[in-house]
Amino acid sequence: MQINGRSSICGLIGNPVEHTLSPMIHNTLAEKLGHNLVYVPFLVEKESLKEAVTGAYALHIQGMNITVPYKSTVIEMLSEIDALAGKIGAVNTLVRTQNGYKGYNTDMTGLYRAMGAENIRLAGERVILLGAGGAARAVAFMCVHYGAEKVYLLNRTLEKAKTVAAEVNVALQTDAVTALRTEDYWTLQGNSYLAIQGTNVGLYPNTEETVITEEDFYRKIDTGYDLIYRPEKTMFMRLVEKAGGKAYNGLRMLLYQALEAYELWNRAEISEELAAEIYELLKKEMNTDE
Ligand code: ATR
Repeated sequence: MQINGRSSICGLIGNPVEHTLSPMIHNTLAEKLGHNLVYVPFLVEKESLKEAVTGAYALHIQGMNITVPYKSTVIEMLSEIDALAGKIGAVNTLVRTQNGYKGYNTDMTGLYRAMGAENIRLAGERVILLGAGGAARAVAFMCVHYGAEKVYLLNRTLEKAKTVAAEVNVALQTDAVTALRTEDYWTLQGNSYLAIQGTNVGLYPNTEETVITEEDFYRKIDTGYDLIYRPEKTMFMRLVEKAGGKAYNGLRMLLYQALEAYELWNRAEISEELAAEIYELLKKEMNTDE
């Protein structure tokens, strides 16, 4: 691809940024779709975040992804925020508007779409969500937003789960979210739950770890979804499968958060065929990485 005077620029702000797969995804999309767009990583120090966002706008940068550790702090630098992202209190995508950047959370809309691509439904479901950190909190919002009947938030520290449950219930005017200490999982009635693993436990290189090992916990689960995608099959996923359930990793979430951002920046619609093609590239990239 030839960069020229008409090329539009998108990028990623974070710290660190060197291991990101986003440039590969977005530059491949631009190439396949014949868009004159370049996507680059920007390493930004904490004290320079505001300058970086203002500077990006001044440079006519079309769109930005925001990653760790700036997904919440960047919000005060935006001119507008999407309703769901505002409730979650975290954004990963900025879209240029006439007055500044508008923030979105495509991590969550992307996760929803990724689950849909695997035929995992949320509407009317009873969900077990492991964790109560930043990631799990966003997932709790997403589950209720898309119609989950109940979300049981299981966490090592009960207080943290209670705080998150109350925040989601108040913001979305519901009582769907209930906090539990992880070891009290046995109080959950019945089986056929959708379980989402939202902690960083089990992430490479700690591939033998998971927050819960009890077999009778896993027998309650029909479908297990781990937000982690490295390793390809986490301990959580292995235990779900061992108990007879279906398990998925977070690679499709990574894919769809990028596709949704790309669609917002370019007012484009990406076909499932192209999504599948990029997914194969991502899988290949993961295998050469480890
Ligand atoms: P993130 O932003 O990735 O969600 P975080 O906000 O630091 O990260 O949250 C980490 C989550 O993983 C929390 O739910 C944490 O449990 P606590 O609230 O009890 O700290 C959970 N977690 C981390 N290490 C854990 C471990 N060894 N066992 C159980 N849970 C753990």
